[in-house]
Amino acid sequence: MSTWQDLRRKSDAVAARHISDLFENDKRAAGFTREFGPFTFDFSKTNIDDETLDLLLKLAQERDVAGKAEAMFTGAPINETEGRAVLHTALRNLDASVEVDGRDVMPEVRATYARMVEFASAVRSGAFAGQGGKITDVVNIGIGGSDLGPAMATLALAPYHDGPRCHFVSNVDGAHIHDTLAGLDPETTLVIVASKTFTTIETMTNAETAKRWMGQSVREPAAQFAALSTAADKTADFGIDPARVFGFADWVGGRYSMWGPIGLSVMIAVGPDDFAQFLKGAAQMDAHFREAPLAENLPVLLALVGLWHNQFCDYATRAVLPYEQRLLRLPAYLQQLEMESNGKRVSMDGKDLPVHSGPVVWGEPGTNGQHAFYQLIHQGTRVIPCEFMVGAQGHEPDLAHQHMLLVANCLAQSEALMRGRSLAEATQIMRDKGLEGAELDRQARHRVFPGSRPSTTLLYPKLTPEVFGGIIALYEHRVFVEGAILGINSFDQWGVELGKELALALSPVLSGEKDGADKDGSTRQLVAKVQGLRA
Ligand code: F6P
Repeated sequence: MSTWQDLRRKSDAVAARHISDLFENDKRAAGFTREFGPFTFDFSKTNIDDETLDLLLKLAQERDVAGKAEAMFTGAPINETEGRAVLHTALRNLDASVEVDGRDVMPEVRATYARMVEFASAVRSGAFAGQGGKITDVVNIGIGGSDLGPAMATLALAPYHDGPRCHFVSNVDGAHIHDTLAGLDPETTLVIVASKTFTTIETMTNAETAKRWMGQSVREPAAQFAALSTAADKTADFGIDPARVFGFADWVGGRYSMWGPIGLSVMIAVGPDDFAQFLKGAAQMDAHFREAPLAENLPVLLALVGLWHNQFCDYATRAVLPYEQRLLRLPAYLQQLEMESNGKRVSMDGKDLPVHSGPVVWGEPGTNGQHAFYQLIHQGTRVIPCEFMVGAQGHEPDLAHQHMLLVANCLAQSEALMRGRSLAEATQIMRDKGLEGAELDRQARHRVFPGSRPSTTLLYPKLTPEVFGGIIALYEHRVFVEGAILGINSFDQWGVELGKELALALSPVLSGEKDGADKDGSTRQLVAKVQGLRA
């Protein structure tokens, strides 16, 4: 029997077991917790037992996770459908030497990084200024990986933010750029156009809008633009001086790109030193992932827990629940990282995937989510594995009491999800309140929590740049391991193309330049309604 089938069988066998029962063994918590650097990863509140963990590790071994990771780190073209290496890790390991097609790519990476440091420092000091003087605001225009990473990081590192204000425009909805630019002074604003391809319609449309806005009061608008892209020819066509173009290679995937030039806005916000700490934290996680045995390896274990829940327990979604307000954008970031990477229906060899693709990922910081969707997590009929994360300390010493409340809530939620509340307990509570008979029974049943709902907790001392870098690298490698075990290409994203093509084709239909005869009835009807409402 294959390990995969063994795991399915195991999942059936333990389905009725209550996770709390595993804690009858007082070594449970320590046995299912791993530590690395500043991180403690506790996966004891899951239904994974010794045998399951052994099977999961065997699966990782059989699917050659370590070998595949080594191929990634050493520049092999593992993104096979695009014929590219996958080397975002090189962007945070600047002293290394990494060869792609027999050429060391690192001198160029280091040179670009040095230019980023120089430019970011100049913006921060005022040595680079706008027509109206020192830059007060930076607007990063990008979408997907060219937006989510830097937008998330700038908020995550708010306590370290001592540079100009940073704004992020992504949506082609004109409301986004309109509302962002509304409060800004073009004479002291720097616009960064972030696009790997420099063809993305949303980004290029917003960039043109920003250029027009800037041109209304700035004599040389292009002089207050910078570009982050692999397409030097296109940035030149847009009129941006190569001195302010920061290039990178095609082996940096969009959703893995904030470690290099796409992170320029973050570097301007927090400064090159803190940005270097952010890279350092990620590089430490890279080294851990590359070197630690599978059974001690945080990204591997996080991935195996994820696979256990998604593939073997059939839990279709997972919630990421940072108890960290400044990780507000983490769930959105992880949605791209995980779902664009592992939302694939064929395996590397083009055959139908015989199992499910990666899960739906969603979430929201605690404690906000508790007052919104946790009801369903606690009492809904479907099980949603939860991934909690929390820092022992906040950045506001005078608000330490609030931070304690935050941590208490985080720990209490995982406890409640696992423990639940039995009918007997609920009945006693309602009896103590004076209920009896049928009403007691009815009311008690509403107050039953099934419990045995799995969760993991990632604990760290404080959300410093280094810790933040480590968290993101942890999740990147988790995605890698899940993809490697599923046998899919986690580094392409063909699934976004069809919608893009159809949107391009629909624009002239909506504007009336073309008829939509080839469209289906629903689309034709919606086009007609829109045209009617706009008339
Ligand atoms: O459409 C998906 C996507 O290609 C993402 O993978 C990418 O992060 C985003 O679009 C933006 O692409 P670009 O940086 O080339 O503008």
